[in-house]
Order: sequence, then structure tokens, then C-alpha cells
Amino acid sequence: MTLKSENREVLILGIESSCDETAAAVVASGRFIRSNIIASQADLHSRYGGVVPEIASRQHVGSVLPVIDEALSKAEVTLAEIDAIAVTSGPGLVGALLVGLSTAKGLAEVTGKPLVAVHHIAGHIAANYLADPKLEPPFLCLVVSGGHSHLVMVKPDGSFETMARTRDDAAGEAFDKIARALGLGYPGGPLLEKAAVGGRSDAFSFPQTRFPDSLDFSFSGLKTAALNQLNQLRQQAASDGSDFEQSFCLADFTASFQQAIADTLVEHTRAAALETGVHRLAIAGGVAANGALRSAMTKMAAEEDLELTIPPLILCTDNAAMIAAAGYRDYLAGRFADRSLNARSSLSLEESFA
Ligand code: KG4
Ligand code: ZN
Repeated sequence: MTLKSENREVLILGIESSCDETAAAVVASGRFIRSNIIASQADLHSRYGGVVPEIASRQHVGSVLPVIDEALSKAEVTLAEIDAIAVTSGPGLVGALLVGLSTAKGLAEVTGKPLVAVHHIAGHIAANYLADPKLEPPFLCLVVSGGHSHLVMVKPDGSFETMARTRDDAAGEAFDKIARALGLGYPGGPLLEKAAVGGRSDAFSFPQTRFPDSLDFSFSGLKTAALNQLNQLRQQAASDGSDFEQSFCLADFTASFQQAIADTLVEHTRAAALETGVHRLAIAGGVAANGALRSAMTKMAAEEDLELTIPPLILCTDNAAMIAAAGYRDYLAGRFADRSLNARSSLSLEESFA
């Protein structure tokens, strides 16, 4: 197996199928997107209020090859011109992961190209290399998705140290659960953000949890407080004989809720930055698409004189360009997977960088 030298363009085909997006992308030299195709299953799962794993797997089976074909043709490259195939191997839904993984292994087998296993969260973090072609570690990254709320230090060699994690719900999970309780639908985060437009973010107050001597997150208290307030307001309206929908200001409630999450995330990030003395920050994951979080983070970075990278919305939620970008670094380091590679529903970031 020969590697291209670093001064020639390296083309990585990325494949992502860990949840409800089937995605493929071609990225040049780990920084430049040649194509980024995403087939979302969100509409399919919305009627169930969340992702149904079996449906997700079946849908990936139907979409994966057309999505890869489209990514290659949009990038105007053939499989033969690709240098390596990077695929998400975990964490995620095992059945869903296996579809992308088996496809990647099959393609690697028939083409003889190297296979690179990418940790889904390493992928989210790598979206920042696409957003800022000059970004290099070390930097501190807030990773906030449906399953993760992590503060990760990306060290000079690209390895990871998880500085904080959630002890219960992930930030995205809290968004999704409250959106569901409000009857907003799925996926909850973007719908809740839409409902918050024009709302007052100080209209409701929600508790923010901090642990002594730890930067870990906890969103279950915030979530329970929001559910309790909602129930009390409904009961109040019922006992007054008033119409709850008329008296309840959805925009104020959702604006206050998302601000409480954004403020918690930002304050923990500030504390971690000050503790480590790092000068660069980044954010990643689906919740990083949230406008309130993006502006609170931008404000904090300016206050602390820190450089901040924020990926565009399309690179925050699940996509394969980020997987290809992460895979490029493994490719350069010669970290290849063999054909025994298997899907892992849970896998630590540190473990993935072996
Ligand atoms: O990273 P992602 O696409 O998938 C996972 O790896 O989990 O993140 C999905 C999560 C969901 O919980 C979704 O509600 C949330 O990201 N999300 C948002 C927004 N867009 C997606 N949360 C708040 N505001 C948004 N605009
Ligand atoms: Zn994700």
C-alpha cells in the first residue's frame, strides 16, 4: 500500500450512516469539499417522534450506493482516483453503522484502497478543519449532538482528551425531549429554535447545574424543570378555565430554554479555556447549528480574546465531509483499519486514536 506524498492532493471518500442520515462526500487534502451528499431520513422518522433503528438501517441499505455514486460524480472523480475510504465505525446505531461499514469494506476490498475507521465525534470535530483551512491543534472543542455533550481538548498531535462530558442527557436530547413535550415534532432542536424566534430569552428561568471540581454537564435538571413548568402552566389554565394555547407564550418559553442550554455550554467552555490556557476554540455537532449557542459562544470568545471556529450549519449536523476530513489525518498517520473492522455502538474518543 503506497501513500501519496503530502504535497499532492489526497482524495478521501467519506461514508457516514451512524443515525438517520446516509451521507457520502469527497474531500481533498482533508480541507476542501469536492462533494457532500446527504440523504436525510428525518421525514420518515418524524411520524414516530424519533429515530426507529430498524427503519433507519433499511433506509440506509437503499440509499448508500446511490449517495456514494452521487458524491463521486459531483466531485468528478472515479473510485480509482480515490486514495482512501473513511467510514464511521461508531458510536451510533449498530444496524445503521453496519450498512456504511460493510459498504466501505466492500469498496476497499474490490479497489485495494486503504480503509480508515472514523469515530463519529472525531468526525464532528474535524468539520472545523473544513470550516477553517488554517486551523491546527491544539484547540478546545465543544461537541454537542443528539448523543454527546463533551468538552474535548484536541492536542498538538491530533489526539483527544475529554475534559468534560454529560452525566445524564446530552444537550440535543434535552432539545428533542422538550420539543416533543411541546408537540413541535422531530427533530426537536431546529423546530424549537424556529419556535423561539422573537421570544424573550429571560421570560422563564431554568436552573443550570454545575458540579464542584468538575466541568461535567447535566441537563436532566433543566429538562425536568422545563417539563414541570409546562405542566404547572397547563394545570393552572385548566383550573382557571382558560385556554392554555392562548395564554402560553411558546416563543418566550423556547427562547428561554435554548438560552439556558446555550449559557450552560458557553460557561463550561469558558471555564475549560481559562483552566487550560488554550487560545483556540471550536464547536461541533448538531446543536452547534443553534443560533443562540453560536452567538453566545462568539460573544464569550471575544470577551476572553480567544479565536473561535464555527462550522457552517451543513457541517454541524451529520455529514460525510467531516468523516473524510477526520479520515485524512488517520490516512497521513498510516492508521488503517483491517477487514475485521466492526461497528461499535459505544466507543471512547481516546480509544479511537490508537
Ligand atoms: O450531530 P447530529 O446531527 O447527530 C448526532 O450525532 O446525534 O445532532 C443531532 C442533534 C439533535 O438532537 C437535534 O435536535 C440537534 O442536534 N440540533 C439542534 C439544532 N439542529 C440540530 N439543536 C438545537 N438547535 C438547532 N438548530
Ligand atoms: Zn452526529
